[in-house]
Amino acid sequence: MMKKIGLALIAVLVIIQFFGIDKETPMSDPKSDFIAIHTPPTSVANMLKTSCYDCHSYETKYPWYTNVAPLSWWIGHHIEEGREELNLSEWSKYPQAKALHKLEEMYEEVEHDEMPLSSYLWVHSEAALTDEQKEEMVAWIKSIPSVEDEH
Ligand code: HEC
Repeated sequence: MMKKIGLALIAVLVIIQFFGIDKETPMSDPKSDFIAIHTPPTSVANMLKTSCYDCHSYETKYPWYTNVAPLSWWIGHHIEEGREELNLSEWSKYPQAKALHKLEEMYEEVEHDEMPLSSYLWVHSEAALTDEQKEEMVAWIKSIPSVEDEH
């Protein structure tokens, strides 16, 4: 009996591997990228690339385990939702008011340790930001002229 259940479970795990996630990324204009537009200092640009771009841009890097269902479905969902909320590859397409709001959200999420997602940090320790790094990123975002005007 146990052996049958075990075999059935293995069969299910094998079958679901045929349902991978969609890793196709649309072509995006490099000129519409957040970093290209706002030219942060290299240190902040690196933080954004290492800690945010996997979920909030089309420059997602997919490690091997993103091929393993059902884990891949869960990760794929985060990427999809992350891009929907904030797509740094399509930054120039945001109307001014939306961009301003997203900039505020960005520093608030970092200030309150909401981003990067904690589950992401389990496997991407390099994406964790130190207190100094958070301060630097927050201060830089607040220094973008239009953001300052809002306050
Ligand atoms: C593992 C994927 C992942 C990473 C890495 C990540 N995010 Fe997110 N982010 C999400 C998801 C999913 C949401 C939407 C659900 C939520 O708010 O929790 C989100 C939401 C947001 C929002 C909210 C947008 C809004 O208008 O409410 C902001 C801002 C944001 N992230 C900024 C960042 C920043 C800045 C970083 C890097 C320091 C980052 N995120 C890293 C997945 C991620």
